[in-house]
Amino acid sequence: MADPLVFNPFAYEMHENPYPTYARMREEAPCYHNEEMGFWALSRFDDVLDGYRNWEDFTSTKGVSLETGGSSVPSMIEMDPPDQTALRKLVVREFNPRRVNALEPRVRALTTRFLDELVEEGECDLIARFAALLPSDVISTLLGAPPEDHNSLRIWTETIMHREDGSSTISPAATEASKNLVLYFSDLIKARRKSAGDDLATSLVEAELDGRRLDDREILGFLFLLIAGGNETTEKLIANTVHQLSRHPAQRASIVADPSRIPAAVEESLRFRSPTQYMARAAARDVVRHGRTIPEGDRVLLSIGAANHDPRRFDAPDRFDIDRQATQHLAFGFGPHFCLGARLARLEARVALEEIHARLPDYEVDEGGVGVVHSGNVAGLATLPIHFTPTARADGG
Ligand code: HEM
Repeated sequence: MADPLVFNPFAYEMHENPYPTYARMREEAPCYHNEEMGFWALSRFDDVLDGYRNWEDFTSTKGVSLETGGSSVPSMIEMDPPDQTALRKLVVREFNPRRVNALEPRVRALTTRFLDELVEEGECDLIARFAALLPSDVISTLLGAPPEDHNSLRIWTETIMHREDGSSTISPAATEASKNLVLYFSDLIKARRKSAGDDLATSLVEAELDGRRLDDREILGFLFLLIAGGNETTEKLIANTVHQLSRHPAQRASIVADPSRIPAAVEESLRFRSPTQYMARAAARDVVRHGRTIPEGDRVLLSIGAANHDPRRFDAPDRFDIDRQATQHLAFGFGPHFCLGARLARLEARVALEEIHARLPDYEVDEGGVGVVHSGNVAGLATLPIHFTPTARADGG
């Protein structure tokens, strides 16, 4: 007899390789119920897509993570339309194509600077020395934090996401880090109320909702959401893509020869190793899926990782193939909460991959040292040791 099907998103073994469990869920229990942990999960592509689109059945207002405890700052991600729509309108402009494209020189300069610091060494952990630094610097700068604070912001954000094995409780360290972020951003808001800067904190201080200014708590919600959403996910995207390309030398050679193929590699990486594995919702009323009734109020996970490997949607989904047209994946969600930072994440990943393959084209991954992250809903690598032929710094220094 087959083992009972158990899906515990906090179990460390799920972080190593969730895909066999996802395959069983899609086939044996497409409306999966974990009674012990008190949640349901949808795993087939069409069901997950519908879950993200259909906020009348699946509400975000009871929270979008499965964890319990800790303090969280309320934000639009935990709202439904029309309340969420009104708040989203206030920031959507900041992430339009023109604004995001204008960031490319800044993203490239940062990328070059970080790579310059390691190209002569011939080896490094690409996450510690690069992938973790770039997204954090980009978003911290956008929000309005000065460079000397970027490191603390990154460490607090990472600590918030970390989970103990099998545990769905937010740790005291995560709660502490969360408090530090709140204090930090409260000071930033105070400073921008006194004197404006050219940053998102200033835009939020000046934004108007129904003819009034936002209060500190509303602004905090945005800043918290942007820093938490933008750092680790993009870091994982960059590292996962490098890792998969190192495992598929022909595909990697093809992008070294023709860098215009890099966006396709990024899309396939988003599908193949989705940095956000799921978001949670709650049933807004009794909802029937695959003959089972999810009672009103119960938590439901919309499994992005499982949907993006559904053979009903993608041919040979467990094969990494940058030639497939993978753009219609669910890595950034769908519908009203579709990732606000998707364009920025794609830009950062493309620039990072372009520069890595231009400057360290013969990198090899030391597979023995590769480790995965143990996080809430973020999946991917924690360490990515590589070695390569040392080259000269671009800045000549
Ligand atoms: C590879 C990188 C990224 C991934 C995989 C990712 C994933 C996601 C997903 C799945 C959602 C949907 C949440 C839901 O439906 O409940 C989301 C929403 C969001 N993301 Fe991202 N994200 C990434 C990068 C970013 C970046 C760089 C930023 C910030 C600049 C960002 C900011 C946001 C915000 C603000 C929301 C909430 C939107 C709303 O509630 O309307 N994300 N993201």
